[in-house]
Amino acid sequence: MAEIVHVPLDGGRAYDIHIGAGLLTNVGEVVNGVARSNRAVIVSQPPIAKHYAKTVADSLVAAGFDAPDVVLFPAGERYKTHRTLEKLYGALYELRPAIDRKTLLVALGGGVVGDVVGFLAATYLRGLDYVQVPTTLLAMVDSSVGGKTGIDYRAGKNLIGAFHQPRAVFADTATLRTLPVRELQAGSAEVIKYGVIRLPRLIDDVIASSEFGTICGPRYPHAVLSGAIRRSCEIKAEVVTRDEYETTGLRAILNFGHTIGHAVEAATNYRRYKHGEAVAIGMIAAACIGEVAGVTPPQVRDDVRRAVFNAKLPSALPDDVSDDALIALLGRDKKSENGAPKFVLARALGDVVSGVAVEESAIREGLAMQRAKYTAEGVPS
Ligand SMILES: NC(=O)c1ccc[n+]([C@@H]2O[C@H](COP(=O)([O-])OP(=O)(O)OC[C@H]3O[C@@H](n4cnc5c(N)ncnc54)[C@H](O)[C@@H]3O)[C@@H](O)[C@H]2O)c1
Ligand SMILES: [Zn+2]
Repeated sequence: MAEIVHVPLDGGRAYDIHIGAGLLTNVGEVVNGVARSNRAVIVSQPPIAKHYAKTVADSLVAAGFDAPDVVLFPAGERYKTHRTLEKLYGALYELRPAIDRKTLLVALGGGVVGDVVGFLAATYLRGLDYVQVPTTLLAMVDSSVGGKTGIDYRAGKNLIGAFHQPRAVFADTATLRTLPVRELQAGSAEVIKYGVIRLPRLIDDVIASSEFGTICGPRYPHAVLSGAIRRSCEIKAEVVTRDEYETTGLRAILNFGHTIGHAVEAATNYRRYKHGEAVAIGMIAAACIGEVAGVTPPQVRDDVRRAVFNAKLPSALPDDVSDDALIALLGRDKKSENGAPKFVLARALGDVVSGVAVEESAIREGLAMQRAKYTAEGVPS
């Protein structure tokens, strides 16, 4: 049984997020209702296409689509570049018969596929429709929803991009069975984030999941997993609907843990940590900094830390990255204004305040607190 979360955008751009096990076989049927022609192109990466491209293609054909072309690019954040994009433009250009503006792109994969294909769809032929078929937990609860698309540029993550909403999202939770455990754990950091910013019971779901291995392990109750994904999507959908282009400050709450998290990722050249792992460290940092700033009660820090620890995510700042290095990187964050970093701080579990300018001395004190309290246990090898 699929669960559906509606994203009510204006101008005919509303779309549904479908969540459930085994949904890939229904993609064609649902896509039929939103596609403007019988032509679809699946864009994916080899490790994902190997498992799932045929199921999606068969479902499109069964629903009356022409046999879809499948275009692949290599897996890894390092391929989220204009070089990949250039190759994908070339691959689309070479397809015969030629594709047109009514052709639908199907982004089958994790956040990298979703971001790249979304941007491809935003730009090729001045804009194609696309659907997201997220296959990582992170993509299901976060990146596939909300229409932010883009690529990395030089040292900057997502520096080039566009807002371009998908026509539908299909989160088939059965695809998580082939996802490496470390990726599952990293994705659960974003679920914890939704718990902190809106719905504390998500934190309980993640904490409970440690008894079962991971939130997506075979023994973890499926209803709890799909419920956690649905609730995460509901929060993201609500925030995106009210602040689609990040102008009112509301969408910024999704960045809880990301201010220091992004600095940690950049300082370690995006190699050492998965995004969610850096966000876990950043959420502990935000709790410590919030505590120093007099906003966050110590109990909230303990709760966040317990969830992070249970999800087997790291809490400690990397020993070989100095506070000076992190603070220097904060000014370059896309979300900073005139070089001054803005923080999302928790007042309670489920209640955060965004756009808080914190004195550098308080940031330093918060980082010192984190370094003193949390040492390297849980750091990925
Ligand atoms: N657009 C947004 O709003 C938004 C939000 C958060 C993150 N992001 C972006 O998302 C990206 C990270 O996404 P991610 O964590 O999904 O990583 P990812 O897309 O790199 O996927 C991780 C790895 O798992 C493989 N994989 C994916 N699904 C699989 C499956 N079911 N079975 C086996 N292997 C599978 C991929 O090929 C890849 O090697 C970052 O680039 C980040 O900037 C975007
Ligand atoms: Zn994130």
